[in-house]
Amino acid sequence: MMLEGKTAIVTGGAHGLGRAIALRLADDGADVMVADLLGGDAEAVAAEVRTRGRRAVSYEVDVSDSGAVSGMVMATVEVLGCIDILVNDAGVSGESPLLDMKESFWDRVMGVNLKGNFLCSQAVAREMVARGGGGAIVNITSTAGANARPGASAYASSKAGIIQFTRVLALELGQHGIRVNAVGPGMTLTGSEVKPAPSQKYQGAFVGQVPMGRAGVPGDIAAAVAFLASPDATYINGQVIFVDGGYSAGKLSVSG
Ligand SMILES: NC(=O)c1ccc[n+]([C@@H]2O[C@H](COP(=O)([O-])OP(=O)(O)OC[C@H]3O[C@@H](n4cnc5c(N)ncnc54)[C@H](O)[C@@H]3O)[C@@H](O)[C@H]2O)c1
Repeated sequence: MMLEGKTAIVTGGAHGLGRAIALRLADDGADVMVADLLGGDAEAVAAEVRTRGRRAVSYEVDVSDSGAVSGMVMATVEVLGCIDILVNDAGVSGESPLLDMKESFWDRVMGVNLKGNFLCSQAVAREMVARGGGGAIVNITSTAGANARPGASAYASSKAGIIQFTRVLALELGQHGIRVNAVGPGMTLTGSEVKPAPSQKYQGAFVGQVPMGRAGVPGDIAAAVAFLASPDATYINGQVIFVDGGYSAGKLSVSG
């Protein structure tokens, strides 16, 4: 129960990795604000958290909207008392080659993934500092933030931006006792109801480049987030942990 007495906001907590992270933080003792664009689905996850004996609330938020993000922070403090942990999980993906890409696609990916991360981090960090400092922010990047692939210029750039954003915040907020780190999942099969699983062909090609020979499962990612949020990681700041079975360590050699 490393997170006993702590309060966490998980954005994108209604589905996929965010849901797994919310439940894992609760299992480790935290009370949780489940925040998501899909308010009803967020409330269903909050209800799951409550059945595990923790306090939980939900909030319908678009992380790219500063007013909505302020409301999320105020609601969390009002109901749960304070904020110790922020997990910036909310994100959108999608592919579009440069020559065909619509401006609206680029703006949406950047708006949710990168601006959303900025807005939530700023609002929560201000709250943490106002209460005397201390806290942990865990951003969800991706192997795509370090390994380029065709068609992913918007998504990969947003996730690369999150890596550098994480490092800059670590430098700025360390003096306030706030640690900022990131987790970079490789391909992780979530069974999400709102995001289709990658094609079998893509899965096969990806797993072929994973030294451990399998895709990730949500618990792999949630465990890394819980560690970085916990007192065990008290001197870890400004780091990115890729949770990808070794995918980003380098290319598997082709023998023969
Ligand atoms: N699953 C993977 O293989 C994988 C790999 C690398 C990185 N990631 C990252 O992990 C995070 C979660 O991915 P996932 O696979 O669980 O996706 P998902 O689509 O299953 O879940 C994303 C959640 O974010 C919410 N969301 C989307 N836009 C939002 C907004 N504007 N405001 C608030 N909430 C919003 C969605 O409603 C959804 O509940 C994302 O940041 C994604 O880029 C996932």
